[in-house]
Amino acid sequence: MKIIKVSNSTEMAKTAGEMIAEKVRANPEIVLGLATGGTPIGTYQYLIEDHKENGTSYSKASSVNLDEYIGLPKTDPNSYYFFMKTNLFDHLDISPERTFIPDGTADDLEAECTNYEKRIAELGGVDLQLLGIGRNGHIAFNEPGTSFDSRTQIVSLAEETITDNARFFSSPEEVPTKAISMGIATILESKEIILLANGKSKAEALHSLIKGEVTEDFPASALQRHGNVTIIADEDALSLINDI
Ligand code: F6R
Repeated sequence: MKIIKVSNSTEMAKTAGEMIAEKVRANPEIVLGLATGGTPIGTYQYLIEDHKENGTSYSKASSVNLDEYIGLPKTDPNSYYFFMKTNLFDHLDISPERTFIPDGTADDLEAECTNYEKRIAELGGVDLQLLGIGRNGHIAFNEPGTSFDSRTQIVSLAEETITDNARFFSSPEEVPTKAISMGIATILESKEIILLANGKSKAEALHSLIKGEVTEDFPASALQRHGNVTIIADEDALSLINDI
């Protein structure tokens, strides 16, 4: 794993944004794997600015998102569909028909999961996957204990995740308890992965990811088995790693 240490979240966003924009310019038909949450927002802002100022085009690109809450309609400001539309897609020239997010309101959620995997395969797989990390080591919504062989599936959110994500809702009771999440095996098939982390609250998770054992009890440790992972993290998030 390559580790890029930056001074703060602004630098993290710029470093990641530059890398992503460069890859989009080099491969206009790129399939991007995208994340939601607080961590990537600055990176998305960078991509929007870059699109406006430098004309980096997404007109031939596709995207697949990692996850979506079950039960939230697309119009709900807390749905990941809404998040992606407002924080990124509406401000780029990406075609809405080529942006894919699991539908957490599908009548047949199992079929939705199977179809999502098929969709990723039809796209030829993910070229560049952007990830955040949960304090408990989750990537996407693959909580501790998830099999490394997992594919897109219905998952239950861990208590810690519900508590962490309650900041986006009016109360913890409003946080959905289930989601559709891309699996670990799906994520590991991405050709390249960039994981972002900032802030002291991620320091223990990053320490386990970089120094810990590979175990399903800590889902992000699966990334140690991937040959092309870059971690871009700030000093706070890397504060427990002494040798970089
Ligand atoms: C989001 C996702 C999650 C987040 C993680 C960190 O699509 O898959 O794994 O990346 O929960 O969230 P933040 O960035 O809010 O700290």
